[in-house]
Amino acid sequence: MLELVNITKRFNLTGAPEDERTALDNISLQIEPGEFVTIIGGNGSGKSTTLNIVSGSLLPDEGKVLLNGRDITKLPEHKRAAYFGRVFQDPMKGTAADMSVLENLEIAYNRGRFHSPLKWGFSAKDKEFFIEELKRFDLGLEDRLNQKVGVMSGGQRQALTLLMATMRNKPTYKMMRRDYILFSGQDENVARREFDSFFEEQKALLDEKIKKENNLTKDEINKCKEEFDIAIRHKFDLTKQILLLDEHTAALDPKTAKKVLELTDRVVKENGMTTLMVTHNMKDAITYGDRLIMFHLGHIILDVKGEEKKKLTVDKLLKMFEEADKKAEEL
Ligand SMILES: Nc1ncnc2c1ncn2[C@@H]1O[C@H](COP(=O)(O)OP(=O)(O)OP(=O)(O)O)[C@@H](O)[C@H]1O
Ligand SMILES: [Mg+2]
Repeated sequence: MLELVNITKRFNLTGAPEDERTALDNISLQIEPGEFVTIIGGNGSGKSTTLNIVSGSLLPDEGKVLLNGRDITKLPEHKRAAYFGRVFQDPMKGTAADMSVLENLEIAYNRGRFHSPLKWGFSAKDKEFFIEELKRFDLGLEDRLNQKVGVMSGGQRQALTLLMATMRNKPTYKMMRRDYILFSGQDENVARREFDSFFEEQKALLDEKIKKENNLTKDEINKCKEEFDIAIRHKFDLTKQILLLDEHTAALDPKTAKKVLELTDRVVKENGMTTLMVTHNMKDAITYGDRLIMFHLGHIILDVKGEEKKKLTVDKLLKMFEEADKKAEEL
């Protein structure tokens, strides 16, 4: 679970007290694993600031960010990168312009696997996998594997960034252990002990199960091993759990925007990623996701999910927005 606890963020460009702006005013939010949240709100209401605090590119003045109960408030952005996939409004961000589609994908897919960027190479299996993934995008990217990303259209780049932000090569247990010790946000010795004892415990359970029922078929044994694998990954695989989208379709033409949005929806569902999607399009905010949050002047003024969300209309949202605005002016 991702939690924001009493987050306040102020900006002051000049240092003079009268220039202080409160971008976020004591915000608290709890987001369940796998929840797809759409975020709307006027310009300057605090949407991007929230995403930046979640990703670690901004530190809050007050409050905490917790991921699965761990305090990651002060964990630097690069150390959090393993948890997050991000797509920004600007198609120029998120991909390396001088590299080919294939190179960009390979780096994203294997992030954390290599110590030297010179050591990468494409396995035929990886390439085949990328082609299959790109084909689903229906943007002709699979025919441009060796083209530099810099010459591609905004829509193509956003689709590619989305794919890069969400796909991942399953880390090995050794990698998971290393990342957990480094990035879990707790004392390294505590993290190491936690990993090792859970791993041993599960392994012992697995061995016992296989030994006790010594007439298991090969398929049954594989199933036990799969369960073991799921238990370990569920607890320790921290990579790409959360997807942060900040108006990622705003720079695209309507047709491409729709395509990228549909793709987003599919990728989110397939990967079960916890997703925060900022959009200025109220209709999209209603159509997609399972929870909708409205920001206004650094506050959350609406938070609906389930049936209640399904009943929302653009008119209703506009009205709520106008009312909040009026109230704020009266204060
Ligand atoms: N780096 C910064 N320095 C100074 N002020 C900032 C900075 N980032 C954000 N702000 C201020 O904080 C407030 C919230 O900004 P934020 O970018 O979170 O808004 P937003 O909801 O994403 O708006 P938009 O819809 O325009 O993207 C605004 O008043 C903004 O001017
Ligand atoms: Mg913004």
